[in-house]
Parts: sequence; C-alpha cells; structure tokens
Amino acid sequence: MRVFAPFAALCGMLMLGPQAWADAASEAAFAKSKNCLACHAIDKKVVGPAFKAVADKYRQDPAALERLALKVRQGGNGAWGVVYMPANAQLSPEESKRLVTWVLGLK
Ligand code: HEC
Repeated sequence: MRVFAPFAALCGMLMLGPQAWADAASEAAFAKSKNCLACHAIDKKVVGPAFKAVADKYRQDPAALERLALKVRQGGNGAWGVVYMPANAQLSPEESKRLVTWVLGLK
C-alpha cells in the first residue's frame, strides 16, 4: 500500500489533469460564446469584475450560485460599483447556472 498510494495519486493526476484542463477550456469557450468575455476577463477587471475576484468574494456564500445565476440573466449593479451589467436574457436558467458554477469555481 505504501508503494501504491503515490502511484495511485500519480495515475489520478494523469487521468484527471488533462480532463480538468479540457473542461476549463470548454467552459471558457462557452462563456465566450455567450459574450460574457466582452466585459469580463478571468483575472483582471474589464467592464465587469475579474471572474476570479467574483469567485473570491462569494467563496463562503452557499446561496451565491442561485442568486448570481438569476442576476446574470436579469442584469444589475451595486455589488462592484455603479456600472450596470445588462440583462443576459438569452440565457436559459441552466446556461446561467453553468456559467456561474464555472465562475465561482475559479481559483
Ligand atoms: C456589458 C458588459 C457585461 C456583460 C456582457 C456581462 N457582464 Fe457580468 N458584470 C458586468 C458588470 C458591470 C458587473 C458588476 C455589477 C455590479 O456591480 O453588481 C458584472 C457582474 C457580474 C457578476 C457578479 C455579480 C455580483 O452580484 O457580484 C457575475 C457572476 C457576472 N457578471 C457574470 C457574467 C456572465 C456569466 C456573463 C455572460 C452571460 C456576463 N457577466 C456578461 C458587466 C457585464
């Protein structure tokens, strides 16, 4: 077992690593296709806050996913400043949740 554990960990990394990578890339591509990246970048403020800053702000908030998924669809301001995020009404509730799940998971 002592030999097996690091070996298993290595296998885990080899199997999960590229997969996690591909997922992160496809979620970013999805956000791009929904125009989020016109105003947001992952690690710097553009028109809206950096997505990593959003993740940090709500890391301890279990209600954030539902609330932000709704806000992304309806638009709003006040959390980061006076600039308004326009409604993204073309998103389904599921798409909005998928995007916010990705944003909140950024580290
Ligand atoms: C036209 C520019 C613009 C677009 C397009 C845009 N956003 Fe935003 N976003 C903003 C601004 C500005 C804020 C800050 C709002 C505030 O202060 O409450 C924001 C805030 C957010 C927040 C944090 C909200 C909060 O209450 O802390 C999330 C999450 C978010 N955007 C996700 C998205 C997603 C996902 C998309 C794509 C569907 C998107 N945004 C598209 C401008 C934009």
